[in-house]
Amino acid sequence: MIKLNYQNADKSIIGEENGLDIDAEFSNYKEQIANIIGDLNKRKDKPGQWLQWMNLGYSEETLWYVKEYASMVEGRFENILVLGIGGSALGGMAVTEALLKPYWNYLSDEQRNGLPRLFFLDNIDPDTITGLLSFLDLKKTLVNVITKSGSTAETMSQFMIVKNILEQELGADYRYNVVATTDKKTGILRQIAEQEGYKTFVVPDDVGGRFSVFSAVGLLPFALVGLDVDEIVNGIKDMDLALKNTDIRENIAAQNALIHYLMDTKKGKNLSVMMPYSSKLKYVSDWYVQLWAESLGKNKDKNGNDVHIGPTPIKALGATDQHSQIQLYNEGPNDKVINFIRVGEFDNNLEIPPIFEYTGIGYLGGKTVNQLLNAEADATRVVLADYQRPNVTITLDRVDGYNVAQLLYMLEIQTAIAGELYNVDAFNQPGVEQAKNYTYALMGRKGYEESAQVLKEKMAVS
Ligand code: PA5
Repeated sequence: MIKLNYQNADKSIIGEENGLDIDAEFSNYKEQIANIIGDLNKRKDKPGQWLQWMNLGYSEETLWYVKEYASMVEGRFENILVLGIGGSALGGMAVTEALLKPYWNYLSDEQRNGLPRLFFLDNIDPDTITGLLSFLDLKKTLVNVITKSGSTAETMSQFMIVKNILEQELGADYRYNVVATTDKKTGILRQIAEQEGYKTFVVPDDVGGRFSVFSAVGLLPFALVGLDVDEIVNGIKDMDLALKNTDIRENIAAQNALIHYLMDTKKGKNLSVMMPYSSKLKYVSDWYVQLWAESLGKNKDKNGNDVHIGPTPIKALGATDQHSQIQLYNEGPNDKVINFIRVGEFDNNLEIPPIFEYTGIGYLGGKTVNQLLNAEADATRVVLADYQRPNVTITLDRVDGYNVAQLLYMLEIQTAIAGELYNVDAFNQPGVEQAKNYTYALMGRKGYEESAQVLKEKMAVS
């Protein structure tokens, strides 16, 4: 199981002013945390609670359909192209970057064991879309369009462009190159999929985008590129079991949620840095940024009071960002909690040759890059503690499906618990919806005429 070390958030290490008395706080919050965990597990099956993501590890049916479809299309496509944005893309990107061989799309067919290349289009930059489509042979590409609402302008505009080209090239058969992941009944993509005869997968009810990585939103692309989805599901299930423990001393998600919450509310540290020391985990930080920001950044609490709260997440990568951000974290404002992710074993043990012994870099020779990376992680967290900067370390034995699934699921539960501590609805995103509505209005969508008028006036003023 993955582990959490929080000693560098304790006052015994980083001093009274910046550190917490963690043992005492665990006792103070024992009952509240137990109630939160118990309550989440009770509410998770009830409709309208947006907690169905807690059941995704147990959805045998989805797993079966995903695997069946992946084996049906095996060998038919050279590329998978995922169209989606936000929660419909970030989880897929985080997990595939972690689990596929590095530089996957540059490898030969043989090196990829005949499995397809994988591309995500998660933005609407005209140059990158044009660039991708200029070399991607869409006839040999399976397009997985993912949108829960079925109407997100970014995703649907990408899809309209891709569909047009596909149809020109393949005629009516183009539909065999499309698989849509969307709501089971509602939304424009559902309507189109039925009309055009696409294969579809479902984003289940009560699963928000940023909590959807272990639904077909993620599992389908994972299976299509040959990842072991059973291993991933086992990781979720084992972590779910561990996090059902209502005792905060045994529950790492509750521990990290409470530490972040108290650091923010008691010590004024409302920035949360996610810094894996593994390039393969780079996009876990992007995914975490969305999860933490959209879930906890709210203007009202659950009682309707104006609160305008939420810790700000920041992404970083070790060791790279030691040469970019760490100066600020050590010596700048003491307003952050840094989450390190440390990996025990890497797939490769890369030795540094014992050359240049006669120079100042001779000490590196004969060591491994693995040792160097983890030495840098350890040195950085100790230096931060020396500067009295709170930091916690999450340790993964290795970057595999089992551990990465545990990590993501643990961070989801941590977010849900933090939402309860802040007393906000962690599962809505009214701030995002409003910008979506304004975009629809600006682009002339029917039904948004009134917003368009208001917008025009506002834009003229600014
Ligand atoms: O987490 C969320 O709910 C959002 O980030 C959505 O995933 C994002 O806005 C995309 O929405 P949709 O899946 O409806 O296209």
